[in-house]
Amino acid sequence: MAKKATKKTASRTSASRKTVSRSTAGKKAAPARRTAPKTSLAGRDLLTLSDLTRDEILAIFRTAQRCKRDIKPFRKALDGRTIVLLFEKASLRTRISFETGINAMGGTSLYMDHAAQKIGEREAVKDYGRNLERWVDCVVARVYAHRTCEELAAWCDIPVINALSDLYHPCQGLADLFTLWERPGGLEGVRLAWVGDGNNVCHSLMHAATMLGVDMTVVTPKGYEPTPSVVEECLANARAQGSTLAFSHDPAAVEGHHAVYTDVWVSMGQSDQANERRAVFAEYCVDVSLMSRASKGVTGKRFPHGSLFMHCLPAQRGVEVTDEVIDAPSSIVYDQAENRMHAQNALLLHLFGKA
Ligand code: CP
Ligand code: NVA
Repeated sequence: MAKKATKKTASRTSASRKTVSRSTAGKKAAPARRTAPKTSLAGRDLLTLSDLTRDEILAIFRTAQRCKRDIKPFRKALDGRTIVLLFEKASLRTRISFETGINAMGGTSLYMDHAAQKIGEREAVKDYGRNLERWVDCVVARVYAHRTCEELAAWCDIPVINALSDLYHPCQGLADLFTLWERPGGLEGVRLAWVGDGNNVCHSLMHAATMLGVDMTVVTPKGYEPTPSVVEECLANARAQGSTLAFSHDPAAVEGHHAVYTDVWVSMGQSDQANERRAVFAEYCVDVSLMSRASKGVTGKRFPHGSLFMHCLPAQRGVEVTDEVIDAPSSIVYDQAENRMHAQNALLLHLFGKA
């Protein structure tokens, strides 16, 4: 995938990355863009949050806040644009929030169900991508293998958005940090704890938190830590921001954190490991006792009910989180879910040069 490396390098420096990389690769010239890019994000992909800079994430947050306050000014922003959603895995939030947001901004969404046949099985991902770019303006892909997203992005001269892969869930990470950012006091002094599997959601949360200077502690069982290359990248982010990123196997390490985040112990595609995982993760359930420990020293008007509880959903109630915790006033899980739409609307506006 030498071509991808070329394109990725270009993405950091060029507003019209795909055009640059395609001609670099000696292929035919890309068609002229339908609108002039207004921001550095126009025409880019979002495969992982490390594709963005801190300033770009904050620009998306500001646009998301505008969208959330009033979507009316953007009612025609995606007029004439078609966005295809390719989903190899089940979804409630990601599918509905993308489709609702696209419709609200005047675009057309097409849902392509890939549950029965993975992308690349019927024809090469390269051919798939080079067909799609002739008809649609953006691809939103939920895939098993992150490499499928990378290949699509390499062969499509239109933005490709990762809607969850085995490695990352960048749209979730954007919405999660936006949810904390928009609260009174914003991200100032916030300490965030992850409890559970060092998985795709954990990776994107680590990216977002460390790029925005939020202190984070990741608590996992031994053997289920986040991927080392992502850890290295996030430690470097934290050093650059002067924040901390710590790791522990001890659930007691949540003490004094303003927000506790967990996710399912068995992600999509891991059902064959369900029994083993349930046994290993048993002591990592986020219950009232763990939230009380997290809430030690967490006081004041910003956190009237103690530490916040976060989850990307879907949750396995009674497994990784108890009903008491997810239904408590300190739980912000439905704010996170709502914000998926506002953050993605903002992302689309930036990728289409409309913000
Ligand atoms: N959080 C999330 O991505 O939910 P879905 O799997 O329902 O899209
Ligand atoms: N880690 C979970 C997140 C679902 C939104 C999974 O990949 O299934």
